[in-house]
Amino acid sequence: MCGIVGYLGENSALPALIDGLRRLEYRGYDSSGIALRLGSDIQSVKAVGKIKALEEKIFGKDVKSPQSPFAKWGNYNKSPQLQYPRGCLGIAHTRWATHGEPSEANAHPHSDCLGKIWIAHNGIIENYKELKEKLEEKGHKFKSETDTEVIAHLIEDFYPHTNTNDNVSVGAGKSGGDLAGSLRKALKLLEGAYGIVLIHEDYPDKIMAAKMGSPLAIGLGDTETIIASDVSAIITRAKQVIYLDDGEVAEISKNDLRIFNIDNVKIEKKIEEIDWDMGEAEKKGFPHFMLKEIFEQPESIMNSIRGRVMEREGKAKLGGFDSVSKKLRDINRIIITACGTAMHAGLVGEYMLEEYAGIPTEVEYASEFRYRRPIIDKNTALLAISQSGETADTLAAIREAKEKNALTLGIVNVVGSSIAREIDAGAYNHIGPEISVASTKAFTSQVAIMALITVYLGRQRRMSLITGERIIKELLLIPEKIKDILGQNNEIKKIAEKYVNAENFFYLGRKYNYPTALEGALKLKEISYIHAEGIPSGEMKHGSIAMIDENFPSVFICPRDSVYEKNISNMEEIKSRGGRVIAVATEGDERIKEMADDIIYIPKTLEMLTPILATAPLQLFAYHVSALKGLDVDKPRNLAKSVTVE
Ligand code: G6P
Repeated sequence: MCGIVGYLGENSALPALIDGLRRLEYRGYDSSGIALRLGSDIQSVKAVGKIKALEEKIFGKDVKSPQSPFAKWGNYNKSPQLQYPRGCLGIAHTRWATHGEPSEANAHPHSDCLGKIWIAHNGIIENYKELKEKLEEKGHKFKSETDTEVIAHLIEDFYPHTNTNDNVSVGAGKSGGDLAGSLRKALKLLEGAYGIVLIHEDYPDKIMAAKMGSPLAIGLGDTETIIASDVSAIITRAKQVIYLDDGEVAEISKNDLRIFNIDNVKIEKKIEEIDWDMGEAEKKGFPHFMLKEIFEQPESIMNSIRGRVMEREGKAKLGGFDSVSKKLRDINRIIITACGTAMHAGLVGEYMLEEYAGIPTEVEYASEFRYRRPIIDKNTALLAISQSGETADTLAAIREAKEKNALTLGIVNVVGSSIAREIDAGAYNHIGPEISVASTKAFTSQVAIMALITVYLGRQRRMSLITGERIIKELLLIPEKIKDILGQNNEIKKIAEKYVNAENFFYLGRKYNYPTALEGALKLKEISYIHAEGIPSGEMKHGSIAMIDENFPSVFICPRDSVYEKNISNMEEIKSRGGRVIAVATEGDERIKEMADDIIYIPKTLEMLTPILATAPLQLFAYHVSALKGLDVDKPRNLAKSVTVE
């Protein structure tokens, strides 16, 4: 949710900032902007829309003759090799609007009255209205409707400037005030969440950053420092990184990096290595990241399982759980919490844990859990699932559970993310960066890890060696089976062509594949803007079936499992009312041919693992519908990959 980049180094900042913005665009993309230090000034450019609009504004549509507001600072006429302006210090932002419509005025970076302080912010300042009123009374003039601008004016208020504007009664005095001190004073007044980078005209060699609730990482390159909301904007330039924690402020200059808290107490930070490969963040010849990530699943699932199974002992080995393994033996209730796709993986986990580990489990949307008065005791564990590890609601749910002394566990993809650092114990997905906003490989990996956790906890309880062995054996076969399904890509595309103009869809499934139905419907909604509802097959007759006619197709997830016959009856109910049916069925199921209009076959597997296989064709179906409609598959409207606001 909003992406921030800051650059300080020996190279031109502009290409680094634009590259960083492109890599963070998935976090939000309704407007963007850059503030660059050029000579003794700071200049800014902003544009509404995706990063491409900002680039066009900077470079012009024809790169050979760019019409850049920065033009006087660089020689752009030596194309095709673009010459960038000399500025080596700058900040940039891609926005997902929370306060104020997407417009140039509301795009970041924002500045103070004198245009000296420039700030890019991710998060929400909850008390901004009250602060804004006070600042306006003191004469501050606001140029946007954002909460962010308040921060720039607050810092200005604490910073003694030589005041050139009589209407502005900000702390008049000599210039050269204490920027870090003014920032700290301003931060103390803020309520809410922020990840901030800021530069100031008086400091040609300084960039400041602060974090509370929104992620911020500082990449340490050989000759440059890049600050960004996540490491995907850093990996091209630096392999070492410092993750800021809540309440920390960083003061970065060319030869120094100082991290302190809001009371100016110095903090020693660990430098960590980024182990993501650059290639993982590129499209590798696929037209969209989503398709690339769908096709990565045989490998990504294997990466999630590798080294974590003990086949002969029928056990799972989860190193991240070792420190709490004794406590886990005493757990008699699990609450799984997550949002969106991750929540659907949690629902699959609920069926697995109850059936195979015998642990009562409930699943709750994180946004609901945090406002309940959950009944938690010392034998309850909270398991949070999050690809980004930054989802604000999930993080808040973890904190709520910690308050009540629950053991907190997690399944997280992004190493070093806020959730990863907050939980007591967890398992990383090890699937590399997921760039497409619509989550695909994260889901299948989350379900695979749920299976491992089920074996881990089950074997601590009453699960037999034989059952443990069987689950592991089947799990290890999943990557090959997914490959078979992906081999049907062309056939699935043909089915998508047939249904591309439908305006509504039901997705129906039972037991383990009820969550699959929810996930299939979510995928279609997210990227094709077609209304789709996931419903338990058995519930459909209690209302939803009234909608069915020949223009309202249903996708049935009905593998040969313990609820197959029930599903078939529900399919008949739809067919007898003229509804069209696309079925996801088990290879060799001939009976389904009598009923379904279109069939996608998946290989046979253990019932608890069918959601992994059944979701893959639904991902492809949604992908093709969206691509056929000519929509922006990877960056659907109104969405963001990482939702760091409530
Ligand atoms: C956003 C994304 C979804 C994702 C959800 C949870 O809404 O658009 O694709 O499932 O957040 O994200 P997380 O990073 O916590 O898994």
